[in-house]
Amino acid sequence: MAKHTLLTADRPTGKLHIGHYIGSLKNRVKLQNSGDYRSFIMIADMQALTDNARNPEKIRQSLIQVALDYLAVGIDPKKSTILIQSQIPALNELTMYYLDLVTLARLKRNPTVKAEIKQKGFGDNVPAGFLAYPVSQAADITAFKADTVPVGDDQEPMLEQAREIVRTFNSTYQQDVLVEPQGLFSPEGQGRLPGLDGNAKMSKSLNNAIYLSDNAAEVHQKVMRMYTDPHHIHVEDPGQIAGNTVFEYLDIFGTDKEHIAQLKAHYQAGGLGDVQVKRYLEEVLNAVLEPIRQRRHVYEQDLGQVYQILQKGSQVANEVAEQTLAEVRAAIGVNYFEQ
Ligand code: TRP
Repeated sequence: MAKHTLLTADRPTGKLHIGHYIGSLKNRVKLQNSGDYRSFIMIADMQALTDNARNPEKIRQSLIQVALDYLAVGIDPKKSTILIQSQIPALNELTMYYLDLVTLARLKRNPTVKAEIKQKGFGDNVPAGFLAYPVSQAADITAFKADTVPVGDDQEPMLEQAREIVRTFNSTYQQDVLVEPQGLFSPEGQGRLPGLDGNAKMSKSLNNAIYLSDNAAEVHQKVMRMYTDPHHIHVEDPGQIAGNTVFEYLDIFGTDKEHIAQLKAHYQAGGLGDVQVKRYLEEVLNAVLEPIRQRRHVYEQDLGQVYQILQKGSQVANEVAEQTLAEVRAAIGVNYFEQ
């Protein structure tokens, strides 16, 4: 029996990119294969709808892309339960009970939500479901009694809110039904992979991402337009490593550290062109991406099987969530017909 339970999730608003891979997916596969965890990997379609209610087709299409990305990176349905949030009704009921334990002021204080509200330009028209999504996220986590939540550090405020809800619930209803989750932040850190343009974050909306599903030609194009040292104009000029996106990627994805150290020394001394370094980065990225592309391709040929995996995973997850919900109902005392 696994010692721990982990749950993590992604909003299906687009395909996953190499920032997701390095920040989270790679680590999930490792945790899955460690045998120490019962793993639940969730596609958070309801959370994605909190700011896309009028564009459900985007979520529907992204959902299958995210599922393909999961399977492609090596999330194995025999070892991990892959589930779809909207297919687990217990999550909604849990959310309703938890909402009564959280104040509006507290919801408005969540720094990640605050930043998103600003970034999305909601002004005064924040969808209520959006403001409350950290509560729904607490339901996601606690429904499976997950003690471990591997996420990027932007999710720490959600975990803090989830822990508060757990403590309030358990003390209010005088029962230790819910489990406090801890974040597990991958050593490579999600925020750490900059975008192709040197922007601090790789993201779809900034149009600076390399997707797990990009083919070699797309990777070539994207790497060639990557941001390097703007002062490195002539090949013979000495170049800067610090803040040079190409070298940052090499540090993160490259395995031949010695070769990379040599390239850096050469670049700093002058005489090494950006294109040459970029060609090497292309090689490094393709070595990571090729097995992922191949697995993706196999599943793409059989989407029926992918939907079956999702349906089966959602069924398994449903049973677990229903069990927790039954305990929650009993703790609150809304199990009128059971005694
Ligand atoms: N908020 C997470 C994100 O934007 C997605 C998410 C939804 C999640 N439910 C979760 C993450 C539960 C961890 C646990 O990436």
